Amino acid sequence: MAILEQQTSQQLIELENEYGAHNYHPLPVVLSRGEGVHVWDVDGKQYYDFLSAYSAVNQGHCHPKIVNAMVQQAQTLTLTSRAFHNDMLGKYEKFACEFFGFDKLLPMNTGAEAVETALKLCRKWAYEVKGIDENKAEIIVCENNFHGRTTTIISFSNDPVARKNFGPFTNGFIKIAYDNLEALEAALQNNPNIGGFLVEPIQGEAGVYVPSKGYLTKAKALCEQYNVLFIADEVQTGIARTGKLLAVNHENVTPDILILGKAISGGVYPVSAVLANDAIMDVIKPGNHGSTFGGNPIAAAVAMAALEVVRDEKLAENAETLGTIFRSELNKYIETSNIASLVRGKGLLNAILVNDEEDSDTAWNICLALRDNGLLAKPTHGNIIRFAPPLVMNEEQLLDCVNIIIKTLMQFEK
Ligand SMILES: Cc1ncc(COP(=O)(O)O)c(C=O)c1O
Repeated sequence: MAILEQQTSQQLIELENEYGAHNYHPLPVVLSRGEGVHVWDVDGKQYYDFLSAYSAVNQGHCHPKIVNAMVQQAQTLTLTSRAFHNDMLGKYEKFACEFFGFDKLLPMNTGAEAVETALKLCRKWAYEVKGIDENKAEIIVCENNFHGRTTTIISFSNDPVARKNFGPFTNGFIKIAYDNLEALEAALQNNPNIGGFLVEPIQGEAGVYVPSKGYLTKAKALCEQYNVLFIADEVQTGIARTGKLLAVNHENVTPDILILGKAISGGVYPVSAVLANDAIMDVIKPGNHGSTFGGNPIAAAVAMAALEVVRDEKLAENAETLGTIFRSELNKYIETSNIASLVRGKGLLNAILVNDEEDSDTAWNICLALRDNGLLAKPTHGNIIRFAPPLVMNEEQLLDCVNIIIKTLMQFEK
């Protein structure tokens, strides 16, 4: 351990390269500490974190209340499995159901697991409540979706890099254009086998695509009309990220099935959840589904603390206010810029479009320069850079970050 602690960034990167599977392409920076909106590398250089672990660290790094909840619970009881009851799970389920306004919660660990759970729940409901013939149920999904990495989930991805040579895939999904109500209605019409519509309220990984105003409301109404479950994947957009507790709250939509992950734990521990009302969730019976770690006492304690922080520190309101400032400041710059062509987003989930070929490495190079200037961000796809800082940021820090971003972009003006 003493030897490891003395290693340089380059040596630590080489260790990962040599002993770790190459399933990611990280920005070359090695972090060893985090607090609030900041992270520090192994040489002690400070950065603003403008990714927040893909929106898992909304409450800021190492939030003391969440970390304390985890430490206390870890010293008391860590894991029972669901073979027995534990004294935290029911309290957490009640807390979260009341927090989000649903009858029941099914606890899992990662986002992809929660999406899988929602798909299984939807199919079971489709057969046992809607009455679709066995093995005929279909679920509508959107082009350019990102819902995780399991075999079933990548079955309906249209990212060739995520799919190539991982087949055969799972059947039963119909892909339609995102933000297109005509396509949704056409898919619903004359097809009695549709069980659900799975949608990201904003497509995060695809590049922070915000759908047209009214899309979610009308999509939900269409789902009701055709007796199809509206399934919102809020793994990335949920927990105050977009300026409301949930992104669907911008349109007052209540999903039939809600999928949460990432920041439900403040990023300190893997926690995910599927929420639904009894008429749907009660199709799940003992033995149908489960997870050894899902609903463990640490997860329960951490998630309750993480949600209390969101409420008590008014993180949704802060994200809304700072997001408006962020886009307005960047828009002023973009008016005269030839390197950034657009900023879009909601709350503190934003992205800029870099004015270059999609397959150019300009966005990557901008992220390297941002790193050198003290701010960490990463391209999503091609020439799009996502900006998603922790929601505990204050206005002064945000304006400092805007300055860093603009100063850096100016280095790339053509
Ligand atoms: C919308 C959405 N769903 C699901 C996932 C998968 O979550 P996890 O990486 O925890 O499996 C992600 C991850 O980025 C996501 O953005």
